[in-house]
Amino acid sequence: MSADQPTTAPDATVVIFGATGDLAKRKLLPALHNLACRGVLPQRFRVLGIGRSPMSDAEYRAKVKADVGAFGNPGAPSEVWAWFESRLFYASGTLDDLASYESIRDRLDALDGAPDAAVGYVFYLATPPDAVSDIVLRLGAVGLLNEEAHRFRRVIIEKPFGHDLSSAIDLDRQLNADLAEHQIYRIDHYLGKETVQNLMAFRFGNEIFEPIWNRRYIDHVQILVAETVGVEDRGAYYEQAGALRDMVQNHLFQLLALTEMEPPISFGADVVRDERVKALHAIAPWTESDVRANVVRGQYGSGRLGEDAVPGYRAESRVPPGSTTETYVALRLVIDNWRWAGVPFYLRTGKRLPSRVSEIAVQFNRPPLELFRRTTGSIEPNLLVVRIQPDEGISLRFQAKVPGPDLRLGSVSMAFNYADYFARAPETGYETLLLDCLTGDQTLFHRADMVVAGWRAVAPILELVSSQPDALLSSYAAGDWGPAEADALMARDGRAWRRPAP
Ligand code: BG6
Repeated sequence: MSADQPTTAPDATVVIFGATGDLAKRKLLPALHNLACRGVLPQRFRVLGIGRSPMSDAEYRAKVKADVGAFGNPGAPSEVWAWFESRLFYASGTLDDLASYESIRDRLDALDGAPDAAVGYVFYLATPPDAVSDIVLRLGAVGLLNEEAHRFRRVIIEKPFGHDLSSAIDLDRQLNADLAEHQIYRIDHYLGKETVQNLMAFRFGNEIFEPIWNRRYIDHVQILVAETVGVEDRGAYYEQAGALRDMVQNHLFQLLALTEMEPPISFGADVVRDERVKALHAIAPWTESDVRANVVRGQYGSGRLGEDAVPGYRAESRVPPGSTTETYVALRLVIDNWRWAGVPFYLRTGKRLPSRVSEIAVQFNRPPLELFRRTTGSIEPNLLVVRIQPDEGISLRFQAKVPGPDLRLGSVSMAFNYADYFARAPETGYETLLLDCLTGDQTLFHRADMVVAGWRAVAPILELVSSQPDALLSSYAAGDWGPAEADALMARDGRAWRRPAP
């Protein structure tokens, strides 16, 4: 992602643990194939898939072909597929058996042609979170994490990075026994979204917005990640997570950080990450009574999405009937720094909401004088909306004169849509992140201190919920915009949630 990094990857093998799982099928292999289509993978590139079920290389290639056809770019030229396919290999093994790791090491040596070949390895742990530290331990034990010049060894891990503050610190301690921080790539697929990266381009590549990006001009900010899907077949995982751990501590906090951070002095990975972590440290800490006043948890009941009747969360598979896990969270945060003092940030995310939309809405102050009150009444304030998905773009609401004899104002909008300007090849969202890892650019990955800062910010909520599981929990019907308590949270400040168009 950085302007300074080469965009063609050095010689490397991507070893995927969990190669037959959902993530590999829907995202990782289609994304690597898309990178092959772009011509940014090196000649000496390989994928070694590791899974439990025995499979030959030929069977694995056939499986990946079907997956790329279903979830990737099936229209790619056949010579690209032939190039890609010849680089796919598979090995079966069990994750808790050291012998499997020894045979992975031998297989890699055989593929490289020599044990000391100048080939980098990326180990992608597309596995359940509780397997992560053991896999790293065993990779370390068989020498697969030792780096030398031209032989990088990097590990990509998926969230959740721990379950709370203390388990996140423990996880890092375990990882650090075998890995240095520069080898750990904590992936957050939100940071791979073009429009999320565009936030930095928008704020720091333009002169006109940054001077007004502060408490003097901004009334408040709303960050929304709304989903129409329910928990689908992930009930067992979701019961342990809930929306706060699944979405807020990572994805929403990264959107928050990019919105409120200070300009970095360069786009060096650690320079940008220093600013993002400072932005998270600025979240004002909560007491228990702050939590009670500023947090709403919700859980969807049965309802309708469009034409379809859908079950409530407690009736989903592998969810206990008395579950108190939240599928919705609304928060009011205060950012304790010079730029943002007094500007509330409202964060909201939920499943089974009426539309799938992610956006950041920045509402500006009203003009100081109501010059048009006689003809127009109270006018709508300026609003800048960065739409992250779908229909990626940016719009700015402002006032214009309604044609006619009176000086009457109406709200109009200037809109930029990505699709109107940039032709986009089909993407999974993982391409940038995988290429960044191959080229050694950690800018878009979570750093350990960032993870800790996120957990620290939500710790008072988790503490309250662990002592009182139904604290602040209300229900909402699937297909509604969340519980009434969330509306009351806004109404208390004299504001309202945006209801974005689907
Ligand atoms: C994942 C969460 O990280 O993000 C899921 O675990 C959620 O619960 C998903 O559905 C949302 O991602 P996107 O890209 O569809 O907005």
